[in-house]
Amino acid sequence: MPPRILVANNALDHGRITCDAFLDVIFQSSTPPSVVLPTGNTPLPFYAELRARLRTRQAKIDFQFLQLDEYMGCAPHSETLFSKWIAREVLDPLHIADRFTFNSAADPSEEVARIRAHMASLPSIDLVVLGIGQNGHIGLLEPGTDFNCAASLVEMAESTWAANCAYWGQDIPRSAVTLGFQELRKAQHTFMLALGTSKAEALYRAFYGDVTPDCPASYLQSMDNVTIIADRDALSLFPV
Ligand code: F6R
Repeated sequence: MPPRILVANNALDHGRITCDAFLDVIFQSSTPPSVVLPTGNTPLPFYAELRARLRTRQAKIDFQFLQLDEYMGCAPHSETLFSKWIAREVLDPLHIADRFTFNSAADPSEEVARIRAHMASLPSIDLVVLGIGQNGHIGLLEPGTDFNCAASLVEMAESTWAANCAYWGQDIPRSAVTLGFQELRKAQHTFMLALGTSKAEALYRAFYGDVTPDCPASYLQSMDNVTIIADRDALSLFPV
């Protein structure tokens, strides 16, 4: 099944369109759906829109949050933790109580085993929302990762690490835990979010290139119910 493509005119519009698509999935479900959400710059307008809608809506938005990735080796209260970031941006403002988060300070192999066991206990994931790295990564699954891998301890690619350090204005750990393809393939719906020309090539390779571990996002070509939500710059290499 080819992906659905939703085209945004600008970042604000991207936030609105993503929010509409997100709420469609949330409200389809009679019980709180399970949702994986990314950190990063791309989803910021979406999270801002979600907070704004919540302030004006009567309906309660509820879901079970599943973490996508996390730096390993940070102190439990470090402000750079992805879990803290997503709590500040989305989960606290929306009063989402059901959270499966990763423990950055835990022993990495024990933490990976705990994550794998929890994810394996879920028959499916209702919605996985992803961003894309310029090198085609999704989550922190970097180029070269086996398509059969489960949640793992990984080393970030140099470019990913540099982008993350720039984001926080300080050095962050080089190792991280991330969900693997075994978990991501449980998604009933997958959203791929992209903004800007810097993502155009990766997005093109993901959906028009070979399905290869060299471009982890190309795995999405093998999945159903994928929605690309992107602005015209990110979609600029797509055939018209
Ligand atoms: C972050 C994550 C990453 C980002 C990607 C794009 O949790 O999973 O894969 O989605 O690096 O980051 P931005 O949106 O900052 O360009």
